[in-house]
Amino acid sequence: MSAPSESTGSVSPGSTGRVSLTGIKPSGEPHLGNLLGAIRPALRLAEEYDSMYFIADYHALTSIRDPELKRHYTRSVAATWMAAGLDPERTTFYLQSDVPETFELTWIMSCVTGKGLMNRAHAYKAARDRNVEAGEEPDAGINMGLYNYPVLMAVDILIMETDVVPVGKDQVQHVEYAADIAGSFNHLYGDHYTFKIPRAIVPEGPAETLPGLDGRKMSKSYDNTIPLFLPENKLKKLVRRIPTDSTPVEDPKDPDGAAVFQILEQVAPASAADVVADTRKRLEAGGMGWGEVKNVLFEVLNTELAPMRERYDALMEPGSELDDALARGAERARARAGRVLSAARRAVGIS
Ligand code: TRP
Repeated sequence: MSAPSESTGSVSPGSTGRVSLTGIKPSGEPHLGNLLGAIRPALRLAEEYDSMYFIADYHALTSIRDPELKRHYTRSVAATWMAAGLDPERTTFYLQSDVPETFELTWIMSCVTGKGLMNRAHAYKAARDRNVEAGEEPDAGINMGLYNYPVLMAVDILIMETDVVPVGKDQVQHVEYAADIAGSFNHLYGDHYTFKIPRAIVPEGPAETLPGLDGRKMSKSYDNTIPLFLPENKLKKLVRRIPTDSTPVEDPKDPDGAAVFQILEQVAPASAADVVADTRKRLEAGGMGWGEVKNVLFEVLNTELAPMRERYDALMEPGSELDDALARGAERARARAGRVLSAARRAVGIS
C-alpha cells in the first residue's frame, strides 16, 4: 500500500504518557477507503502514544435501526481493526457501550453545555439545511441523539483524560466542542476538578483520495466501495465493474485519468512498486488493455487482503480472540473512566 507518511501533525513523536484516543463509528461494512484513509494512518499514530481506540456503538444508534445489522457492524468494524494490525496489548481497545460511566458523565456535561453550541454543530446544521431545502420542518426526522451527539463524543474524550484526538477533518469541530465543554466545566467547578483540554490532530492519509467503483471518491454514501473482506470471486467481479473508456487495446492511454490505475497505485505495497511502474509504462506506450490492468489490480489487491481476510474471518467467530481483547480493553477503560467520573460527581455535589 502507499508509503508510510509522517502522521504526527504538530505533536512531537515518541512521547509516552500522552493519551491519544479515537472513536470509530460502526455504521457500515469496512471498505478499502477506510483501510487506506483512516485505519492505517491511525495505527501508525498509535505507536507514538498511549493509545485508546474504541468502537462508538452508541453513536451509531442515531442512524442504524436494525439491531442485527447494528451488532454485525460493531463486531465487523472491531474485527477489521484487529485484522489490520491493531495490537490490543499496546492499544486499549474497547466498545463504548462497555463503559457505562460515559453515559453518567454525559448528563453532568450536558448541564454545563450551551444549547446554542449544539445548534451550531455541523452535522445538525446540515440535517436542518437538508430539511429546509426539501420544504420540510427544519427539525423533521432529527432525533435528540443526533442533536446531543457532540456531548457524548466530548465525554468519550474527556472521561479518558485525552491529550490528542486523531480524527478526519469532518470531526475536528466535535473535538473543539469537547475542549469548550471541558472549559465550561472547569470554569464552574475548577476548584474541585479540572478536565484535561484535548485537541484534534488530523493524521496524514494518502495524498490523493481513493476513487471508488464509479470513479468518484470511494465512500459508503456513494455506494461505490470495495468492501475489504469479500470472497475472492466476488472481489474479482467487483474489480471488473470499475468503469473504463473504450480506447482500443493497442492505443496509448493516460494511466492517471483512470480509476483502475489510481486504485492500483494506492493499494500496491512497496513490494509491488515495479508492477505498478511496468503497468504505467505499458499503458502509456499502448498495447495494454484495461481488462489486463484489472487483472493486475485484482492480483495485487488479493495478495494484500488475503491474509487479513483470513484473520478477520477467525476474529468474527463467536468467542474468538476479539472477545478477549475487548473484555480486557473494557476493564482498563472502565478503571480509568471510573476515576474521572467519581471526581466529576464529587465536584458537582453528587455524593
Ligand atoms: N463522531 C466520530 C465519527 O463519526 C466517532 C467518535 C465518537 C469519536 N466518539 C469519538 C471520534 C471520540 C473521536 C473521539 O467518526
